[in-house]
Amino acid sequence: MTAEKQRPRPVEPDPDPDAIRAFLRQTGTDAELLFFPETDSTNSEAERQLAWGRSPPFAVLAAAQTRGRGRLGRRWHSPPEGNLYASFVFRPRMPRGRIQAVTLWMALRACDFLRGFTGLPLGVKWPNDLVLEGKKAGGILTEARVDMDRTLDLILGLGVNVNSRCQGWPAETDGKAVSLAAVQGNRFDLNRLAAGMTQTIWRAYDDFFLDGRPAKMRELWERLTIWREGEVRLRTTQGALKGKAEGIDDNGALLLRLPGGRVEAFHSGEADPDTGTK
Ligand code: BTN
Repeated sequence: MTAEKQRPRPVEPDPDPDAIRAFLRQTGTDAELLFFPETDSTNSEAERQLAWGRSPPFAVLAAAQTRGRGRLGRRWHSPPEGNLYASFVFRPRMPRGRIQAVTLWMALRACDFLRGFTGLPLGVKWPNDLVLEGKKAGGILTEARVDMDRTLDLILGLGVNVNSRCQGWPAETDGKAVSLAAVQGNRFDLNRLAAGMTQTIWRAYDDFFLDGRPAKMRELWERLTIWREGEVRLRTTQGALKGKAEGIDDNGALLLRLPGGRVEAFHSGEADPDTGTK
């Protein structure tokens, strides 16, 4: 039996790559788009494409993933239910230290696009979660090939729960995941959404290298962050700590005022509003 025949029947019609490409042409976005009815992970597929010699920029889209990956070694549940599973691949040749900034920048721009497209009040939870009604609607997994000094290839993997009902999902997502359609009450046109998102990410990539980007990033942050101020609990590989959120720096690091009064910049971790409970 071929891999295509073993695949579970889609609950939603597959995204239509020709329709997505047509929308992209209408907006003048010159993005090469690879589409897979199913793959293990679009980030892994992007890695394979790079290894086979495909030159960035390009985008990989799938209707379903069998081994979708999330941050911190987590799984990204990726059924064929009309969601966005996409990886956007660039060759930026930028200093390695800017990966955090580019990821937050893309999360902010993706969130801004989705708010405009859906009319829903999505927000960003640092570093790169897309949040709706306090639950996770999407996220970004950035992976990069680097040398001693520079980022060579950058893979921005974006997952958005667009049309899923998020029912019967794995226990680890239970009550924590939400889809745009579940909140809106209607399903969204995934082809238009995928094309609009690709156009957004393509533009955002060019804009990242413009002089005014740090100010624009702070402006977007102020508008889209789910916590402007207040106590935050941050879990890092070194352990957990609490502090008062004081914004972000130009590199996208989270600024926390620690109990002693010192402000420190954190580049990675899992941050949540501190509710006083463990
Ligand atoms: C997160 O943990 O918040 C990041 C989730 C990223 C999921 C997307 S879906 C498309 C791409 N391919 C993957 O395997 N992961 C990312």
